[in-house]
Amino acid sequence: MLSRPDNETLTRTGTGTPMGTLFRSYWIPVLLSEQVAERDGAPVRVKVLGEELIAFRDSAGRVALMEPRCPHRGANLFFGRNEEGGIRCAFHGWKFDARGECVDMPTIPPETMPRLCEKARIRACPTREWGGLVWAWMGDAQRVPELPQMEFALVPATHRHVSKKYQECNWAQAAEGGVDTAHFSFLHQPVASSDAELAEKAARATRGYSAKSMGEDHVRWMRDDTRPRYEVRKHDSGLVLGASRRAGAGSLYWRIAQYLLPSHAYTPSATEGQTYHGQTWIPIDDESCWVYLYSWNPTRPLTQEEIRSYRTGGAVYPEMDSNWMPIRNRGNDYLIDRRLQKTENFSGIVGVSEQDAAIQDSQGRIADRTRELLGPTDIGVVQFRRVMLEAARAATAGEVPLGQDKPEAYRVRAGGIVAPADAGFDDVMRLRFGDEVGRIAGSSQR
Ligand code: FES
Ligand SMILES: [Fe+2]
Repeated sequence: MLSRPDNETLTRTGTGTPMGTLFRSYWIPVLLSEQVAERDGAPVRVKVLGEELIAFRDSAGRVALMEPRCPHRGANLFFGRNEEGGIRCAFHGWKFDARGECVDMPTIPPETMPRLCEKARIRACPTREWGGLVWAWMGDAQRVPELPQMEFALVPATHRHVSKKYQECNWAQAAEGGVDTAHFSFLHQPVASSDAELAEKAARATRGYSAKSMGEDHVRWMRDDTRPRYEVRKHDSGLVLGASRRAGAGSLYWRIAQYLLPSHAYTPSATEGQTYHGQTWIPIDDESCWVYLYSWNPTRPLTQEEIRSYRTGGAVYPEMDSNWMPIRNRGNDYLIDRRLQKTENFSGIVGVSEQDAAIQDSQGRIADRTRELLGPTDIGVVQFRRVMLEAARAATAGEVPLGQDKPEAYRVRAGGIVAPADAGFDDVMRLRFGDEVGRIAGSSQR
């Protein structure tokens, strides 16, 4: 449960809010690179943290991200012509380069142009391309940090897949889904009357997730132990969250997630050698967000089959239309099928990603955390809120928030493992990752 002021702080991300200041203290993804693939191609509208912006790729290949208002008489540059070295306003032809500098004013006498150009600058945000995404720096232009060294961006392009999905609720409740791994015992469970049927249905329902090395046993363990014990450790870029369930005599099945500031989470199921998945929640405004989705394998290219399953709805990816709108969405109740809910799966909704979205959206456009009743399996959520509120206060006070100055601290992994029941969390972490907080071996931070 949160107080009303804390709920507001956690969820509001507009200019000048504490959480808005925190988000503007990190590089954040704002587009897929493929959305602005072409030099001098069409500008696209980008709404992020409540701000309306446009993006385009200029003739030199740089991605511009800027306010769309033409300083002349306020026309929207979305309608502008993206031409040699900048965007030209379609109204009277003023032109601006990718840094927002006015470079031409064809309606102004040449002698007054230099003085007026100075006044006609447009606010533009620095951008970088990293891991198939366009990242933006929306904070203080004097204090631009390095990009976070997230593993999906460090591997060769053949080893990763990136996409995004539209989600119709506040960013924070969607992100909470990434740290609340207890819900796997319910929301994503098949309905089955025998272990064989469970295994068969689990394989279908979790298409795209590669947890096969444990057979489908992990689904049974999750079904049978509904009270996972949580262990949470804060590290230099966020939290590592382990949850253990009984897995037969003398063993525990650990699912270990990462939450990295400001809003990245890695899913907890991959075992050693398997493909990893992550999500990044970026507010469009306070009632909707883009969820950037990525999968990567550190040691091999992704297979055609993996990529096909991601493109058609598998692992963290929903089935979507060409605008990244999930086919099963708030507007059609996620095509919930009540018969399916009795006979096939717990939710009656097809797709792990869709099940998450349905239930997160159902908490309201902005979840009211003042009326919750939390228990021991909500420890991850509680710790997430604590660390985010603390970081928002730090950013507002002008301090460096967690991880911002430690790009190498983002070189961590999440994943699952079956370990002896008497192993402590630190031992389990060393067993699975060779490090107590999941840092990648050889990371310069160690
Ligand atoms: S409004 Fe853009 S050039 Fe006049
Ligand atoms: Fe989920």
